[in-house]
Amino acid sequence: MSQVSILFVCLGNICRSPMAEGVFRQIVEQHNCSARFTIDSAGTLGYHQGELPDSRMMYHASKRGYELTHRSRKFKRSDFDYYDWIIAMDDNNFEDLKAIATTTEEVAKIHRMVEFSEKLSPTHIPDPYYGGAEGFDHVIDLLEDACQGLFKHIR
Ligand code: 4NP
Repeated sequence: MSQVSILFVCLGNICRSPMAEGVFRQIVEQHNCSARFTIDSAGTLGYHQGELPDSRMMYHASKRGYELTHRSRKFKRSDFDYYDWIIAMDDNNFEDLKAIATTTEEVAKIHRMVEFSEKLSPTHIPDPYYGGAEGFDHVIDLLEDACQGLFKHIR
């Protein structure tokens, strides 16, 4: 079976996209197909470069069985060459990525995470950074649902 590379993208790459990466990685491991997938995440903002995910995201992730070890990095133009699927968490991320894309092939790689939602029907994955604890749990709920849909779509 063919190799697939997926990059999850949010703004800071310390909350939503490293969480999406962790959730998708676990689904792939559960289906014994890790070797087929390259999974990473990035932010449109470079402000948190090199940092582990936000401690609140790590805490809520860990309570639900996910250990996040990703270090924040900024999205770079060459990611369009490397990745097959570039998954934006919200409309701002989507538009920011489209503005960086230069060809129709690159634009075609960009998708919104919520396109793959199954049981839930969110309009976007909301940024939990400035909110309370429940926002982080909610992000995990939305990502678990959408990552299942993405996996079924791609596999
Ligand atoms: P994320 O959340 O995009 O889900 O990683 C944010 C993290 C940091 C900032 C904004 C959003 N920030 O402005 O520093």
